[in-house]
Amino acid sequence: MTENGLEHIAFIMDGNGRWAKNRGLPRQAGHVAGAATFKKVIEYCGSVGITCVTVYAFSTENWKRPAEEVSAIMKLFAEYLAEAEKFCMKKNISIHFLGSKAPFGEYAARMTALEEKTKDLGLTLNLALNYGGRDDIVHAVNKLIAEGKKEVTEDDITSSLYTSHCPPPDLIVRTGAEKRISNFLLWECAYSEFYFSDVLWPDFDEKQVDLCVEEFGRRKRRYGGV
Ligand code: IPE
Ligand code: IPE
Ligand code: MG
Repeated sequence: MTENGLEHIAFIMDGNGRWAKNRGLPRQAGHVAGAATFKKVIEYCGSVGITCVTVYAFSTENWKRPAEEVSAIMKLFAEYLAEAEKFCMKKNISIHFLGSKAPFGEYAARMTALEEKTKDLGLTLNLALNYGGRDDIVHAVNKLIAEGKKEVTEDDITSSLYTSHCPPPDLIVRTGAEKRISNFLLWECAYSEFYFSDVLWPDFDEKQVDLCVEEFGRRKRRYGGV
């Protein structure tokens, strides 16, 4: 963890489209720039002592975007998948996908293989792809029903979510000036701190991460106590 106790940081990587629009470029160009920021930020988070990074890359609702944009994002993901093993091995990153892999067809097996291959490495990277917080809770409850449970506890749900391998996020950062959760980590955010940045995701950098960590250090967490 960082000196001020930050273990798990989660990013809602928002603002790619507006970044591109501001430059007169197609939205897709924003996603390309955003993917580069993602790699830079992950690495930097690891270097300051953060042990778990979650990034919201594609929501269950993002499928309603124009087909052209969805395929551009999927193409970027396929490119990332091709280089991810090498990247994770080199940077000591253990990757986990949050969300159902079913829509990814031929890539699903490769995603699972990547999780297996990197599972004992250092920094945990959760890639939320086809992820929705509501979908995750429903998926968890259905899993418990399939196991024969008639009644569930909070711990049952926590340990059946896609994030069962890691602690809840200490800090959730949303870039791109919007101030909403957009179906991200709904169960896990119960006691997370929130940080909203006006910076569009492609412009986010190491300095911005430092600001997040510093701000986290100023927060007083009470968890309902005094
Ligand atoms: C976030 O950027 C990336 C995804 C949701 C895939 P956006 O594409 O939402 O960018 P804006 O919000 O339109 O600027
Ligand atoms: C949230 O951003 C999802 C991701 C960053 C992947 P959106 O751009 O989809 O959220 P809304 O539509 O502004 O709520
Ligand atoms: Mg957006």
